[in-house]
Amino acid sequence: MQLKKGEIIEVDIHALAFMGGGIGKYKGGLCKSPTCCDAEKSSVGLTVFVEKTIPGDKVRASLTKIKPKFAEAKLVEIVSPSKDRIKPVCKYFGICGGCQFQFMSYEKQLEFKKQHVIDAFERIGKIFAPPVLTVIACDDPFYYRNKMEFSFGYNEKMQFALGLHLPERRYDILDVDECFLQSKRSVEIFNKVREFAIEHNWLPYQYSCNKGFLQSLFIREGKRTGEIMVNLIAAENVGNDWPENLQKDLEDFVELLKDCDSVYFSKIINQRGQRKRIEERLLHGEKTITEKMILPNGDELSFEISPQAFFQVNTLQAEKLYYEVVKMLEEGGHDVIFDLYCGTGTIGLFLARHCNQVYGIELLPEAVFAARENARKNKIFNIDFYAGDAAKIVSDLKVRPSAIVVDPPRAGLTEKLIKEINDFDPKTIVYVSCNPATLARDCQVFARYNYKVVKTVPVDMFPQTYHIENVCLLRR
Ligand SMILES: C[S@@+](CC[C@H](N)C(=O)[O-])C[C@H]1O[C@@H](n2cnc3c(N)ncnc32)[C@H](O)[C@@H]1O
Repeated sequence: MQLKKGEIIEVDIHALAFMGGGIGKYKGGLCKSPTCCDAEKSSVGLTVFVEKTIPGDKVRASLTKIKPKFAEAKLVEIVSPSKDRIKPVCKYFGICGGCQFQFMSYEKQLEFKKQHVIDAFERIGKIFAPPVLTVIACDDPFYYRNKMEFSFGYNEKMQFALGLHLPERRYDILDVDECFLQSKRSVEIFNKVREFAIEHNWLPYQYSCNKGFLQSLFIREGKRTGEIMVNLIAAENVGNDWPENLQKDLEDFVELLKDCDSVYFSKIINQRGQRKRIEERLLHGEKTITEKMILPNGDELSFEISPQAFFQVNTLQAEKLYYEVVKMLEEGGHDVIFDLYCGTGTIGLFLARHCNQVYGIELLPEAVFAARENARKNKIFNIDFYAGDAAKIVSDLKVRPSAIVVDPPRAGLTEKLIKEINDFDPKTIVYVSCNPATLARDCQVFARYNYKVVKTVPVDMFPQTYHIENVCLLRR
């Protein structure tokens, strides 16, 4: 029997795909390819990806794509649910697209993430039985973010909306009155702002007709300090659609948010031939808010956060992540440590207390500026920062480090940089990674230079999502 699009099949889900969604084997039919599904393969089963399902579910699903080696299907009905299914706390689960794993117990999420790291090492890195430790869990898998952006726009009925972009739809906004990722205070703020905007006839910006002006609302909060920053962002290239009495409205806006520590009104300036930039105007309070980080060993640093500063989104988990880096390096009695891809310098600043000198390298000059400020504020003087491409700058450094820390973006390292790292011949490399696939790939390259993975510690920075960070220790 040949399978057809739209056909409904029953399938048992036995595994989870990386970005969420279950995987099952369907044995009752053949796919379209004349060369693929012979009788033997059909008895093994055709791999079917079914969105919104988890291992242990038996489901009925409608086929949406049929390829020679796999098929995709949409969930129609759960025939019998997996024991790991739980009721999602959020009423927008499955619509907003933000928390793909919220219908799975937190223990199961952690189990899945650990398995995903093991699979990446084995499949991509060809490192078998890798030393992957237990995932470091979040104490509270909700309310963990210190930064959220909510967008203004219109919902499908063309009513005012403040919330989240719907997946795969660039301009429809899902109006939300609750979200479990930041804090209850953040929810109160965005609900107050929505009410205020509607009352004052403030209109969301519509790109298609260049009408309105409201673009988005950023809320940042210091999880250790409780300080709050609100940044209302407007689109710059609006026609005549500014509120008639903007100045007076902004005074009322400040009154509404007078409990917040810092309130900004910013405009996106998007002029032809120029780099897009954001012009900020401080309406109330301080220019920056303070966030603290306290590692489990008591090491403490504080950071000034400006509206556009990069900062780890989950403060409390970042502390645990940095502590893993410190522990991996404190035994070595290191003299010089390099911190490559250092962002605003956080990892290097914690390491500076455990060695003689740290050199941090970061591409963005504004992040380097913030890193130097962070060093000054925390009275740490044995650290230097350089702005530029890590692969270029590192080769100019004349000192020899005994350890190198790297924390690259999702794309991972280049072979050129790995070679340069090897040329320094460090005893220890600590690789902080937000992408198990590129971590595994790069560890295979390090293996060619005789660096072996001693252990990798997954840290769950983003509960309810499929993301997982790793702190990986490599030694010759
Ligand atoms: C995952 S973040 C790490 C930030 C920092 N270690 C922390 O924990 O906050 C990666 C950083 O690498 C920087 N980056 C990207 N490409 C780079 C390059 N070629 N050379 C140096 N830094 C780069 C990014 O700007 C970003 O700050």
